[in-house]
Amino acid sequence: MNIRPARVDDLLGMQACNLQNLPENYTMKYYLYHALTWPSLSYVAEDDKGRIVGYILAKMEEESAEGEDTHGHVTSISVLRSYRRLGIAKKLMLQSQDAMASLYRASFVSLHVRKSNRAALGLYRDTLGFTVKDIEKKYYADGEDAYAMHLSLK
Ligand code: ACO
Repeated sequence: MNIRPARVDDLLGMQACNLQNLPENYTMKYYLYHALTWPSLSYVAEDDKGRIVGYILAKMEEESAEGEDTHGHVTSISVLRSYRRLGIAKKLMLQSQDAMASLYRASFVSLHVRKSNRAALGLYRDTLGFTVKDIEKKYYADGEDAYAMHLSLK
């Protein structure tokens, strides 16, 4: 398994992975916006044939609330079903978090996750140490609430 920064020619593969794994989907323009604006924050995991089996799509928050330190945000992460529980998502998260801190001086990283997403909550809370900052009611299109989670990078 190879984990490396995402390139523009990976974006279709990342989108295909996202479509298989999550109901939250994005336009190609949105992928491009991430890749062109913050080229060192998004990563892919590829198998030995170069097929993308996991990705993290991440950005910096440009308009932080007043008084809030600049921070990174994980827009989306997923790993194809047959490649799960191998530590791939953890590695993708750590690579992106490192780049947020070292290149952009991010003081923390934020993300949203469905309250029912047991696997992702295990990854964020138990493995990486994120905490729940807030509950955003009906955040998702189907009405499910989101946990807004934070992890300090200091
Ligand atoms: N149940 C409980 N805990 C889990 C699970 C699970 N099914 N999967 C991972 N974890 C936790 C464990 O603590 C695990 O450590 P361990 O294996 O040593 O016990 C830790 O997370 C690290 O697991 P990884 O192997 O790195 O995670 P994986 O590569 O399997 O990917 C992911 C986890 C991304 C959540 C995967 O299950 C997935 O793609 N799910 C569908 C898409 C999704 O829900 N994405 C997140 C949406 S929120 C967002 O994008 C901001």
